[in-house]
Amino acid sequence: MAKGKTKTMFFCNACGYESAKWLGQCPACKEWNTFVEEPVVKTSAGKVTKPSERREPSKLSEVSVTNEIRMITGIHELDRVLGGGIVTGSLVLVGGDPGIGKSTLLLQMCQSLVADGHSVLYVSGEESVRQIKMRADRLGAFKNEMLLLSETDLDIVVETVQRLKPEVVIIDSIQTMYREEIGSAPGSVGQVRETTSALMRLAKGLTISIFVVGHVTKEGVVAGPRVLEHMVDTVLYFEGDGSASYRFLRGVKNRFGSTNEIGVFEMRGNGLSEVANPSEYMLQGMPENEAGSVVSCSMEGTRPILIEVQALVCQTNFNMPRRTAAGTDYNRVNLLMAVIEKRLGIRMGECDAYINVAGGMRIHEPALDLAIVAALLSSYRNLVSGAGSICFGEVGLVGEVRAVHMAEQRVLEAAKLGFKRCILPQVNKEQLELTETQLNGMKLLGIRTIHELQEVL
Ligand code: TYD
Ligand code: MG
Repeated sequence: MAKGKTKTMFFCNACGYESAKWLGQCPACKEWNTFVEEPVVKTSAGKVTKPSERREPSKLSEVSVTNEIRMITGIHELDRVLGGGIVTGSLVLVGGDPGIGKSTLLLQMCQSLVADGHSVLYVSGEESVRQIKMRADRLGAFKNEMLLLSETDLDIVVETVQRLKPEVVIIDSIQTMYREEIGSAPGSVGQVRETTSALMRLAKGLTISIFVVGHVTKEGVVAGPRVLEHMVDTVLYFEGDGSASYRFLRGVKNRFGSTNEIGVFEMRGNGLSEVANPSEYMLQGMPENEAGSVVSCSMEGTRPILIEVQALVCQTNFNMPRRTAAGTDYNRVNLLMAVIEKRLGIRMGECDAYINVAGGMRIHEPALDLAIVAALLSSYRNLVSGAGSICFGEVGLVGEVRAVHMAEQRVLEAAKLGFKRCILPQVNKEQLELTETQLNGMKLLGIRTIHELQEVL
């Protein structure tokens, strides 16, 4: 390499994969056109410690375990996803599409924390202090003072945090932060990695909790939050349909708690409000006695959520029938239609089919299969599945209905909301031991195949 020329490498913007040459498709995350050329950064994290700083390893049996100290945010949905509050000294990544409400959520968390007397510093690289104030005014009065800083130079941020020692720091968007000594532009893979590792050292060094916002980027030269997932303690994604007002906060990684928990929020004019009972919420405005609409129960972490599955099946006018699946797996729907065609002898190949999981949730659980099949049959035959019915179960390739996990929680949730009939896999029904009062007058109907489903419909 010519002298004086800085060494460059190619990085995948989506996942951070490194390569010496440009590639069209990333071998790690299979995304296309994500490679960008960047100077190689000598990170301080890679330095070898001097012999005098070496520490003796300790014996596993002698390590004392103290429970981690947690700060309760007061927003229950957020506390649960975090595993029971904010762990002091942890670095949390909050990812999501631009405009989904990440800044709003974190500002509300700050509002609740300062009300409890915690000290909070909110660093924004995207908005001016005035803009944050305007958003804060929409959320209502702040009881105590919170510190604001509009800054993109990470060294200044680090210096401020070391001086003020707040308990919680928010970095609103890691993609805007930069360190001068790194040659590349803010938002590049090298910059976001280096700034995140500097923040990690800061969090561990001062035992303060730091929240980092990361925008999910579709294309361009800005690195996405997936690049950082392996560096931080906890990864939360905030998602939802831009047009609907529901927002889901999903835990993807958590060193201090379980993942797969979700928090449900609704975006209102005065900020996000918690949805304590998502099932009732998801079934709002559901049509009664209409063909093609079936209720099912999906597990989100440890939480059962009832959702409505809609299907519309009609004669096709084209050579290739049209099919869409909103909120669930398109290939799974095609597979289930093939199963119906083969096992029930219905000519699905001549029909257009549209499947929709109402409410803007995305569900990929196999337990939804039975509801999809029921909705398709109901729409095809113009049959009403009957108000107050719910069904769940996995459907196999030979048309058998297979058991699903956590059947008891699903049945109880349906009973709690007053459903009258629950169609479930026979195997699950046999294992259930529920009392009459628990069932709340709901009948359980165990089925083995989709033939039996057709009969009970
Ligand atoms: P924001 O938190 O700025 O999103 P992000 O930080 O993820 O980019 O939220 C932006 C959207 O939320 C914006 O379209 C306006 C809407 N919003 C409300 O509907 N109600 C509110 O009270 C607030 C503060 C924002
Ligand atoms: Mg924002």
